[in-house]
Amino acid sequence: MAGRPARVLPGAGLRRTSGAATVECVRGDITAQDDVDAVVNAANARLAPGGGVAGAIHRAAGPGLAEEAMPLGPMGPGEAVITGGHGLPNRFVIHTLGPVYGQDRPEAELLARCYRTALALAEENGASSVAFPAISTGIFGYPIEEAAEVALQTVRDEAEGLRVVRLVRFVLFSEGDLRAHERALSEAF
Ligand code: APR
Repeated sequence: MAGRPARVLPGAGLRRTSGAATVECVRGDITAQDDVDAVVNAANARLAPGGGVAGAIHRAAGPGLAEEAMPLGPMGPGEAVITGGHGLPNRFVIHTLGPVYGQDRPEAELLARCYRTALALAEENGASSVAFPAISTGIFGYPIEEAAEVALQTVRDEAEGLRVVRLVRFVLFSEGDLRAHERALSEAF
């Protein structure tokens, strides 16, 4: 349930602590993160339901999510907005638009901006735990190893400045994606 301190699960994947924040990588589904305040949506510019993460989040949240989110759009790559969680077990959904690999440039800077902006919104809204999917690595085609490095390095750079967020969790869909993020976590922290 949102608002409870995040559980520490034995064998839940790799975990590192930086300042007051813990960063961890787990394999799972972004819609099943019952113990975090905010989940991040790999959204489209219109903030409409889509495939992948966006499809799963909108299906689980129900139509109220699109009703709240779509008037906040359109957004550009690297931008983010926040809404309620509706039917999800989380207080908030933070919607961010990742770069399309090979099209929105500079990709790495735009992807880093997604993580920075999402964390800033979590801080401003009092979310102490945030779960991210691997933004841009599905339909938007960002190679998983490169994206994992950008994601973990950005969170490392932000970690010292976090005052509210205590847990950042990366939720990866496949074993290979989990391994790429665990490698990047070990290198960054
Ligand atoms: N939980 C966690 N991860 C998931 C889930 C899920 N339920 N579903 C998919 N993933 C993984 C994918 O395997 C991929 O590694 O999330 C990553 C991001 O994939 P996408 O959802 O395709 O996101 P992205 O590449 O940023 O593309 C966004 O896709 O659905 C459309 O409307 C959306 O246009 C937008 C685009």
